Amino acid sequence: MPQTADRLAHFTESVIREMTRVANQYGAINLSQGFPDADPPPEVLAAGATAMAEGPHQYAVTWGAPRFRAALAAKQRHWMGLDLDPDAHVVVTCGSTEAMMSAMMTACNPGDKVIVFSPFYENYGADAILSGARPIFVPLHPPDYSFDEETLREAFRQDPKALVLCNPSNPSGKVFSRAELEFIADLAQAHDTFVITDEVYEHIVYPPHRHCYMASLPGMFARTISCSSLSKTYNMTGWRLGYVIGPEAIMAGVRKVHDFLTVGAAAPLQEAAVQALELPLSYYDRLREDYTRKRDLFLGYLDEAGLTYTTPQGAYYVMVDCRAFGVRDDQEFCRWMAREIGVAAVPGSSFFHEPVHHLIRLHFARTEAILAETGRRLRKLKPSASF
Ligand SMILES: Cc1ncc(COP(=O)(O)O)c(C=O)c1O
Repeated sequence: MPQTADRLAHFTESVIREMTRVANQYGAINLSQGFPDADPPPEVLAAGATAMAEGPHQYAVTWGAPRFRAALAAKQRHWMGLDLDPDAHVVVTCGSTEAMMSAMMTACNPGDKVIVFSPFYENYGADAILSGARPIFVPLHPPDYSFDEETLREAFRQDPKALVLCNPSNPSGKVFSRAELEFIADLAQAHDTFVITDEVYEHIVYPPHRHCYMASLPGMFARTISCSSLSKTYNMTGWRLGYVIGPEAIMAGVRKVHDFLTVGAAAPLQEAAVQALELPLSYYDRLREDYTRKRDLFLGYLDEAGLTYTTPQGAYYVMVDCRAFGVRDDQEFCRWMAREIGVAAVPGSSFFHEPVHHLIRLHFARTEAILAETGRRLRKLKPSASF
């Protein structure tokens, strides 16, 4: 048999999806793969049924159906405070996953360096490898996931082509402050570097924290490739609708990459999702309130189980420190916990470039009843367990 490509040797299969299989194997509550229990809003489901009955069923415009782009530009104009032109500044993709890959392939030549904060969402490693870029990892230090300014300056001195910014951040739950974003922006401008953002949790931010868009900072729209999606905001991870927003010259490149990667996102689903993009602002208030309630509830259960964690500022993940339970091998511990306690988590080491083996990631985008049952199960954890 011919040899498969060398690039495959540089990344493994997704640990998150593997943990979902482990959860299924042991019938554990799956708090590993981060998708919500809830369905999309009912009016969006109704629009989906209509689109299935009446179409469109053939290819949409490759860079996005005009109605979808217009609705998206109007929505993001509000939130980002930018004068977005749906014909010039928007490309609709198959989720933020494709958006990020398209952005990376647009920005980087093989051999270019890309700054990635660690811990990082596992796709960024694969994105870098598949586009031929080399990551420069800059640590975000637990428990507060702050970065050292001098370390970041040093990374920029290595002449990176782009910096990847996941904000709000998966897995850490960090929401970058405006001051931190300004610090990064100054460096990006000084070193003529792109910033590629992944903002899928832009609407899941816990007060008093606020989401600030990198593209909205003075001078940054010109070099920021903003990626996001409808997956988390409207409970539609399976619809695979995402987008890239950026200046026209960059978007011309993104359109080309996207066209040859996937041609386009599903036409009937784009049509139906217009309904989601046009939801009133109160929808986003409710989303934030619902997740704030779930977060507070879940953190209460972690307290009762004696677990130590970093309070998430955004997104719906919590990094739990398991050292008090004797954990030195997070992978072993996660398998044991799925089997014996009935709760599946992701080993924290799969997000870190550095050797960090005492953290696990749990997500709380589940019903309150499931979170309560998780709490009951976690109380069975005993500090004597040794891994
Ligand atoms: C940070 C981050 N980016 C992207 C994704 C995937 O988003 P999408 O469904 O839009 O591809 C996820 C999903 O968990 C995520 O956590």
